[in-house]
Amino acid sequence: MRVDHDGAVPDAFATSRLDAVVLTPAHQALLGATLAPARRTEFVRLAEGRGAYILEDDYDGEFRYDGHPIGALQGLAPERVIYAGTVSKSLAPRLRLGWLVVPEALLEPIVEAKRRADRGTDVLSQLALAELVSSGDFDRHIRRMRLRYRRRRDALVDTLRTAAPERRSVGLVGLERFWHGNPRARGVVLGYGTPHEHDYPNALAQLGGLLSSFGAGDAPVRSPNRAASRSP
Ligand SMILES: Cc1ncc(COP(=O)(O)O)c(C=O)c1O
Repeated sequence: MRVDHDGAVPDAFATSRLDAVVLTPAHQALLGATLAPARRTEFVRLAEGRGAYILEDDYDGEFRYDGHPIGALQGLAPERVIYAGTVSKSLAPRLRLGWLVVPEALLEPIVEAKRRADRGTDVLSQLALAELVSSGDFDRHIRRMRLRYRRRRDALVDTLRTAAPERRSVGLVGLERFWHGNPRARGVVLGYGTPHEHDYPNALAQLGGLLSSFGAGDAPVRSPNRAASRSP
């Protein structure tokens, strides 16, 4: 699919005969745009028109930093959208915990597919997560991390504004690696969640130093998550 500042473009889905489409409406993975309201309506209209399904991969919807919260696409068409959430971004990917909200008609086949895939998910970690949620600690954690990640994201973007792409000692992954087919977008993917809090300024300083020594200070910086269309 093509992707622009309003997220995934529905035209390829419109002209295809596909039975399903996978979307990441909260933040297009990996370019970061939030799927615009008109696009949401259009994808739902197309799916309803031909009885297709939308898989809403809401992998990081908790971490919206700018603007108002945007509801899940699933709310627009609960019988056409399969919603998937995860703790991989909010707690840790190694927990392997997530959740689905599925159309009534798909509930039994999905439960059966899950049973056949792995015979169930670790109960202790599910109980621990349930306790975290019901005690309110999960919400508090999300609010704290949202603020922390927002500051990190802003510091990263500021560093990139005054410097630009480089190679040594900082882990940078090329955007091309995530692409299927052509045309390939060019760029790098930068994470800011992993370093310890006390290491982060140093990591940024290293990144900035390396980038400016590379002398590419005028390269454009696109900031996913920051009201994507208004970012430089
Ligand atoms: C697009 C996308 N979807 C989902 C996930 C989370 O997957 P899982 O819950 O299997 O760890 C990620 C994690 O990086 C992701 O990038």
